This record gives sequence, C-alpha cells and structure tokens, in this order.
Amino acid sequence: MVKTTISEVYKYEDQEVKIGAWIANKRSSGKIAFLQLRDGTGFIQGVIVKTDVPEEVFQEAKSVTQESSVYVTGKVQKDERSPIGYELLVTNIEVISRAVDYPITPKEHGTEFLMDNRHLWLRSRRQHAVMKIRNEIIRATYEFYNEQGFVKVDPPILTGSAPEGTSELFATKYFDEDAYLSQSGQLYMEAAAMALGKVFSFGPTFRAEKSKTRRHLIEFWMIEPEMAFYEHEDSLKVQEEYVSFIVQSVLKNCSLELKTLGRDTSKLENIKAPFPRISYDDAIKFLNEKGFDDIKWGDDFGAPHETAIAESYDKPVFITHYPKAIKPFYMQPHPERDDVVLCADLIAPEGYGEIIGGSERIHDYDLMKKRLEEHNLEMDAYKWYLELRQYGSVPHSGFGLGLERTVAWISGVEHVRETIPFPRLLNRLYP
Ligand code: 4AD
Ligand code: MG
Repeated sequence: MVKTTISEVYKYEDQEVKIGAWIANKRSSGKIAFLQLRDGTGFIQGVIVKTDVPEEVFQEAKSVTQESSVYVTGKVQKDERSPIGYELLVTNIEVISRAVDYPITPKEHGTEFLMDNRHLWLRSRRQHAVMKIRNEIIRATYEFYNEQGFVKVDPPILTGSAPEGTSELFATKYFDEDAYLSQSGQLYMEAAAMALGKVFSFGPTFRAEKSKTRRHLIEFWMIEPEMAFYEHEDSLKVQEEYVSFIVQSVLKNCSLELKTLGRDTSKLENIKAPFPRISYDDAIKFLNEKGFDDIKWGDDFGAPHETAIAESYDKPVFITHYPKAIKPFYMQPHPERDDVVLCADLIAPEGYGEIIGGSERIHDYDLMKKRLEEHNLEMDAYKWYLELRQYGSVPHSGFGLGLERTVAWISGVEHVRETIPFPRLLNRLYP
C-alpha cells in the first residue's frame, strides 16, 4: 500500500492509501464518524462507517482525541463538496500519540489566548493558509529576482550602524563594543551592489518601536533589493513589477488558501503594473481638500492619512518626493528642489498601509559626508559606507518591502501578528 500525503491523494483515486496525520476535529454518531484530518500538506475528511470496519476500529475513531497523531488507512474517493475534491473512506486507524485535552477547541477564543497558544494555533486551517501564502510570496520573490539577474546577498544581523534613525535600536554588547540588531540591511546592500550590480536580501530586521498597531512588529522580515546605475524612476519600475508578480503568483498557486481565508480575490486580480503615483505635495493638498486639517506640508502621514489616499485607487499607490527633513540621511536630493528627496513609499490598498519604502541614494562623497555630520552619526562606524563614494561611486537605488504587511494585505488578514509564525510584539516574547 502507498504511503502518501493529503496534497497528493488526487493521484490515487479509488485506491487504498496510508497517511500520517493529526485529528483536527471530529464528529460522530452511533453509526458513522467524521474525522477532519490534517497532515501539514492539507486537510481532508475521513469517513468511517460502523458496519464497514471491525468494531475496534470504529471505537478507536470515536474515542480518538483532538490533535492526536495517527496513521489512517483508507480509500480515496472523489467528493464534490470537499475543497480538495476528495475524501477518505477510512478502513483502519492507528493512534501514534493520544493528545491530552487540547486547549484550542472549535469554539471562539480571544486573541490573547490564541497568542499564548501560538505554538498550537499555527495548526489551525486559517493559520495554515496564511503561512502557505507567506511561503508563496517568499518563493515568488526568489523566482522574480533570480529571473531578473539579481544576486541574493545576506547582510549581517549584528551591526554597528543605524540606517533608519537611532531612536528605535536594539542595542547589545559585542564583546567590548556596542552593537545593534539590524534595522535594515540597506547600507551593506549598497556595498554589495557595487560588487555585484543588482542584489537582493531577505532577512529579519528589528525595531524597538513603541507602536502597538495592526501594522507594527518588533521583529519583521524585509526584502531589500539594491541596484547600481538605477535612478529613482528605474527603481519604481522594479517595485511595481515585483509587487504585481507576487500578487499574481499567490492568485495562481494559493487559490485554496485564499478561499479558506474568504479573501475577495477580485480586488487582487487587477494588481498589475503600472501603479499610480502621487507626489507628497499633491497628497497633502488632497488630504486638506478632503477635510484632514490635522496635517500640513512637512508632516509625516499617519495611518488614517495613508488609508484615505489609498482609497482613491484600486491598486497600490506610490507617494513620491517626501520632505528631506522626515526621511533618512542617505536619500538623494531632488535635482531642482532642495526641500524634497528622490524617494517613494508604496501604499497598499484596503487600508494595509506602507508596504515599501525606497529611494535613490546619495552617491556624491561630499554631500554624503555633510549629511552624516548633520545627522550626528558617528563617523567611525560609517567610514566604510562613506568610502563607497570614493571608489567609483555611481547613481544607485533600492527599496525594502515589509513581508508581513504584504502577507496581511494579500491574505486579507487584519493584523500582522497572524502573518509571521511567532510574532514579537511590544508586550510579547512568548512563545
Ligand atoms: O520604510 P522602511 O523603514 O525602509 C527601510 O528600512 C529602508 N532602509 C529600506 C531600503 O531602502 N532598503 O522599512 C521598509 C518597510 C516598510 O515599508 C514596511 O513595509 C516595513 O518595512 N516595516 C515594518 N513592518 C512591520 N513592522 C514594523 N515595525 C515595520 N517597520 C517597517
Ligand atoms: Mg518607511
């Protein structure tokens, strides 16, 4: 008999197979038992009819507890009502490990309770679907950048520099020196772009942000491409092509998961490059006209502002050319204006907020030196970064896409805490 997985049962219609699984849920009457089986690759219903199996097998099916691990044997049958198109007519069940009272029952639980049980909650159908979509976005990311000739480069996690400002750093000791957990791999990716041309990274980043919102994590994962000889506009093109590609890949390869989550896919189908653009100046005017009198030129946008802007479009929208004063030190100034920089944030539709931050980088040595001084950054730590401007400096651009916010948007999940296996939040380091 073949041992297979739930994802592969379609290959064995009307044949008997053996599957290692867990009991996600169970329902039984005197004559029939329904086992919701999950094995990591998917979910399938197992049906056991009392009169068709030895009595002890039926009793085992009736008494097996939720989340016990089992080997089940059964015949694969076509079933129109099943999301995967098949069910299993169970002929035997062997319990591997009987689970004690499982805390997560089919009834409703509060968020804190579910978060305390994150190590178990991950097994649920909904969390399974979100993790599969996360995985598809990561897979599509590697495909996209490899196809476009980018080289994957891994920047360090322990660093001596702070690209995104010094207020949100996780400091630690590095033997006798001070070190920080990486906020962004960008500065190292700039060095890598000068060696390899087009590069991308994918790794964890850390921000000691005291923000408790549905968009903020303390530890999150970022994809950071950096491209030599790419100017601002060239970078926007990569961004819109990349985001379109991951959305279309999820639509193509995760239809079951999107269905499980009840995602309205009509809102995703239309996500294709090019994306609309609005300048920061026009965005402020737009908001003031809309009645937001709490924001003026020079302020950064809050979540309600971003949502209001995004609502005018059915695709992600680039907000370009922010004031220099509210952006990091490394951004290239606008060639005709001293007050704004060549940057853009990409705002996702449906209120999911900023998913990408990016810019052209300053490549002039003197200007970079001046900016580092203006920002009171310790020259010793940035010596190597400044040197990149002394040895064949070129225009270059890059950006960072926040994975969890992107997963939240594409999955239609309200809060980023469900988009990473073990979220690190303001008040949560457990489990
Ligand atoms: O806009 P940010 O801060 O940009 C950078 O770090 C650049 N150095 C990237 C680059 O140019 N290479 O962060 C980039 C993205 C944001 O748009 C957002 O999607 C995500 O990272 N992000 C967060 N996601 C979850 N929780 C947080 N606390 C986040 N902070 C930023
Ligand atoms: Mg940003």
